[in-house]
This record gives sequence, structure tokens and C-alpha cells, in this order.
Amino acid sequence: MKDQKSRELFERLAKVMPGANTRTVTHYEPFPVAIDHGEGCRIWDVDGNSYIDLINNYTALIHGHAHPRIVEAMCRAAEQGLAAAVPAPIALQGDLAERLCSRTPSIDLVRFTNSATEAVMMAVRAARAFTGRDDIIMPANGYHGSWDQVSLSGTDEAHPDGAEGVVPPGIPKVLAGIVHFVRFNDIGHLEELMRQHGSSVAAILLEPILGHILEPGDPEFIRSALRLAHEYGALLILDETITCRLYVGGWQAQHGIEADLTTMGKTIAGGMPLGAFGGKEHVMRIFDPRIPEPLSAHGTMNGSPLCLAAGCASLDMLDQPAIDRLNGLGDTLAKLLDGIGREAGTDVRVHNCGSLLQVNCADPLAFHRACLEEGLYIAPRGSMNMSTPMDAAVIEEIVAAWKRAVGRLQAVDAGVTVGG
Ligand SMILES: Cc1ncc(COP(=O)(O)O)c(C=O)c1O
Repeated sequence: MKDQKSRELFERLAKVMPGANTRTVTHYEPFPVAIDHGEGCRIWDVDGNSYIDLINNYTALIHGHAHPRIVEAMCRAAEQGLAAAVPAPIALQGDLAERLCSRTPSIDLVRFTNSATEAVMMAVRAARAFTGRDDIIMPANGYHGSWDQVSLSGTDEAHPDGAEGVVPPGIPKVLAGIVHFVRFNDIGHLEELMRQHGSSVAAILLEPILGHILEPGDPEFIRSALRLAHEYGALLILDETITCRLYVGGWQAQHGIEADLTTMGKTIAGGMPLGAFGGKEHVMRIFDPRIPEPLSAHGTMNGSPLCLAAGCASLDMLDQPAIDRLNGLGDTLAKLLDGIGREAGTDVRVHNCGSLLQVNCADPLAFHRACLEEGLYIAPRGSMNMSTPMDAAVIEEIVAAWKRAVGRLQAVDAGVTVGG
């Protein structure tokens, strides 16, 4: 695989950026391939190698790259002079907010942010203001973005199950007193935590599926979280940043659960930097600037037109049949890929939740490298997901490349050098 230009770009960036990096998760050794452009479900690196993109910017690009409808919507907004955020209401805010409220029954009112990290920050702030309490409960191995208080679990590449009790550097230790960690899917543990801390808990914050290891939440666990939150006067915040792609209205709508607050990002923004949080009217109205002492939430770029336009175009192409098709492709692909690893007698295993897939094996980085060599762009930690430009022919291509990648891994294990 040619990589001279990726190496040169890495060296150039490393002179002006620490480790040539501005997003920790994108680095792998010795240097990551640098991407030049993308179209549909394919991307090309700066050396001209092409890949089927199975990362899709960690699920944000559900319609792949440069989808004509998304590009057109963004161009239209830019041509209207709305390329930048404006400090005023614009119709596009209503267009996306109406779509979000009509898709998810628990969302009466919504606000926009620039990322899902910020959406989580603001949802927690809302819960604290609403309840007058400070504490939150979240899973030790949950991921809710890079905000201090939700990074306390230490969940990262090195600690996929969280590093409870170890406050990561740069995060004030004092915060450890107000964040409590629950074992995911353990109702008894949640009950115990609520008995201990319930009177000071503002919110239970959960992902319906632990995204970074693809562990599905038990609907009974999430239902119990809602019940317990209400029993103790707290709120349930469901972080559907990833799971909103699995069903119109998100995971909660599929399971008939109504969270008090919901946080979203990625899919709802058509690949652009936008997050949103929303929920029940009686909670969200604390942001209404017409009431005495409203809760303030600022952001120069909140609700910026290009992102809103991309988000509307993205959601308009995600009706239930489109989502079902994508989940079906995920089911088919996961089964085929898992079968390949088993038949070859390797430990390469694949599981999925609809259009989200995860590969596990003893040496994920070696397998990641093998996939790159065979034209498959998967996350170094093994996450994968489907995009709407994919179809049965693309699945066939992925399967053929996967077989070769598994073969490469076996050759590496056996100490044999494979060309390319
Ligand atoms: C469940 C969940 N919440 C929040 C975030 C943070 O999103 P962002 O990176 O847009 O801030 C992520 C990102 O992967 C996520 O998976």
C-alpha cells in the first residue's frame, strides 16, 4: 500500500499540531492514512488508495460522502447569504426543530448546540436547574463526549470499560463527588445507587446502546432508570447521539420509552457539526427567555444555517423504510463477516445492532491494518457502520475484502509476509 504522501502530510502537521493530531481517536501508529476526498460510500487517501468507508466519521455520515441532496441544501443556504450563523431566528431552525419534535414523541421542545458534547452539557445543566440538585449517575463505561463531568469515567481507547476512581488528568478531582457510576444493565446496582444518592441526583444519563463497544441496553434497564429517576424526583436523559439512526424517533421510540431529555448529534446534522437536546415542555421551558430568570444557554454558532440545512436533508432521507433497509444491510453484513472469521478458525468476531457493527479480536490494530491494506476503512477499535449509498453489491465487495483481510491477519500471526 502506498503511503508516502500520508507520511509527508503527517510530518508537516506534526510541526504545527501535537502529534499531527486534533482529535485523539484519529491517531494510530505509525501514522494514520490522510484522506483526500470521498464520494458515496468510498474515500480516497492522499496516495490514491481507495477504501469502502465503514467508519463514516463515527456514524455521523449516514448518507456517506458528498450526498447530492445534502450538498445542494447546504449550497442553497450559502447562496442565500446564510453560510454563517446569524444572531437571529431563521426558518431553518424551525425546519429542523419541527422534524426532531415530530419524530420523537418525548421531544416537545428542542435547542441546538454545536456538538453532541455540548448537547449533553446543556441537558445536564437543564436537569440540575430543574431539580435544584447537582449529582448525575452514568455508566462507568458510557461515552457522552469530551465534557469534564462525563469524561470522569475515564472511558477511552485504553479503558473501554472505564477507569472508575481514576480521575483523568486535566479534570478537577472535586467533580468525582457528584458523578456516580452504575454498571450498565444492572438494575439492582442502579436501585442501590439511588437509595444512597437519590435525593441529590439531578439526572440519570444513559446511552441506549454503549456505542464504543456496541453493548445493547436492556429495555427493562432503561425503563427502570426512568421509573427510579421519577421516584426520586430526578430526570432521565437518554443520549441518542448514535442510536437516533436506528429507528425514526430513536431507540426510545422503538421501545415505547419517553425520556425526560434527549441528546442528539451526528445523523441529525447530515455530517455537519451540530448537536441538539430536547424533551418535555415542562422541563425545556426553563430556557424560555420570556419567563422570569430563564436558564441561559449561549453559543455564537448555535443553530447555524449550513448545519441545519444539512440536517433537514439528512432526516428527510431517513424515513422508517430507509432505516429498516440500512439495519437489514447491517444484519446481513454482520452475519457474513462473523462467519468468515469463524470458518477461517480465527478469533475475529462481528456483532451488530442494526446498522452499527463491531469487530472484536485479540489484535484489533493488526486487523485494522489488514483491512486498510484490503480497502476497508474501519475504526482502529473495530467500530463500523453502514451508510445509505451501500447496497448488496457493496456488501459483496466488503465480504471479499474481509476474507482477504482475515487471511492477512492469519499470515501475520504465522509470521508470513504478505505483499502490498
Ligand atoms: C453517545 C455519544 N454522546 C456524545 C458524543 C459526543 O459527540 P461530539 O463528538 O459530537 O461532541 C458521542 C460521540 O461519539 C457519542 O457517541
